[in-house]
Amino acid sequence: MNFIMKPLLIFILLVVCVQVAPKTDFQCGCVIYTSLPFMEKNADCSQSSANMKCLAQLGLSSLNLSDTRLRKVPDLNDPGFRAIKELNLSGNNITELADWKFGSMEELLFVNISHNKLTSLPNKEPLSIKMDLSYNQLEDMTDLVPLIKAKVILIGNSWHCMCNNSLVKQMYRKFPSFMENNIVCKKDDQLEPFAMHCHEIINNTENLEPNATIASRVLIVSIIILFVISTIYLLLKYFFDFFFSPRPQG
Ligand SMILES: *[C@@H]1O[C@H](CO)[C@@H](O)[C@H](O)[C@H]1NC(C)=O
Ligand SMILES: *[C@@H]1O[C@H](CO)[C@@H](O)[C@H](O)[C@H]1NC(C)=O
Ligand SMILES: *[C@@H]1O[C@H](CO)[C@@H](O)[C@H](O)[C@H]1NC(C)=O
Ligand SMILES: *[C@@H]1O[C@H](CO)[C@@H](O)[C@H](O)[C@H]1NC(C)=O
Ligand SMILES: *[C@@H]1O[C@H](CO)[C@@H](O)[C@H](O)[C@H]1NC(C)=O
Ligand SMILES: *[C@@H]1O[C@H](CO)[C@@H](O)[C@H](O)[C@H]1NC(C)=O
Repeated sequence: MNFIMKPLLIFILLVVCVQVAPKTDFQCGCVIYTSLPFMEKNADCSQSSANMKCLAQLGLSSLNLSDTRLRKVPDLNDPGFRAIKELNLSGNNITELADWKFGSMEELLFVNISHNKLTSLPNKEPLSIKMDLSYNQLEDMTDLVPLIKAKVILIGNSWHCMCNNSLVKQMYRKFPSFMENNIVCKKDDQLEPFAMHCHEIINNTENLEPNATIASRVLIVSIIILFVISTIYLLLKYFFDFFFSPRPQG
């Protein structure tokens, strides 16, 4: 029995291993490899010239176009790119993004566009995916508005910090740690952290609050106090009525 079972088991194990093991091959000018556990296909086209039409046929879930001398985001409108979750465009010469959409990639979760030449960002809609924007040439602080609630990496950009600008003050008041952790300001030929560069507005944060928000807070607090007082009153009234009011005899 053992004599037959052992080789059979080993054979079955081998077949399973070969099926499950990640495969690597060369297609469309890129290295294509599968990743576990769902056997997703990834294309690593780093430092090579990819055939995009060909790649679109593969049903990829990640695409690495880093260091491929791109000057703009390539055409990614083919529906074959729909399942891509991760796009790597780092180390290119991309100077602008038209919007936050990357062709037909509807399931995109992360884009790495670090080490490019981006000088501005789309500022219509908020960014909803994770993005590495480090080491670009971003400098206009109005570009920060769509990023403020997103997961972004911004190191390696030197911002033109307008400390006295009302938008900047507002962003600082609402998201102080975002500003302090992500923004490095240009100062003459040097760089200075936001907190140091704009210490005047930081020192005066308490005075930045517009009267409207103060008024609405006062209103909310008053309503809560009123509610608590009336609840206590009603409870006490009920308590006294129950125990101390004369009961009808009968
Ligand atoms: C390309 O990017 C993928 C993920 O985006 C990464 O796993 C891979 O190591 C990268 N390749 C190179 C050569 O950097
Ligand atoms: C970007 O463009 C410059 C000038 O055209 C060139 O010298 C440089 O090698 C390019 N860099 C990349 C990463 O393609
Ligand atoms: C993207 O490409 C760069 C350069 O090839 C690499 O260092 C990085 O690990 C890649 N992956 C991600 C997730 O950015
Ligand atoms: C993005 O790519 C750069 C290489 O240009 C790499 O150093 C960095 O770690 C990548 N970012 C992330 C979040 O993986
Ligand atoms: C910012 O504005 C205030 C008054 O509005 C002024 O006193 C201050 O000097 C300004 N600071 C800078 C850095 O321009
Ligand atoms: C303002 O901030 C600077 C730097 O953080 C600090 O040295 C200074 O004492 C502060 N001034 C006031 C009035 O709080």
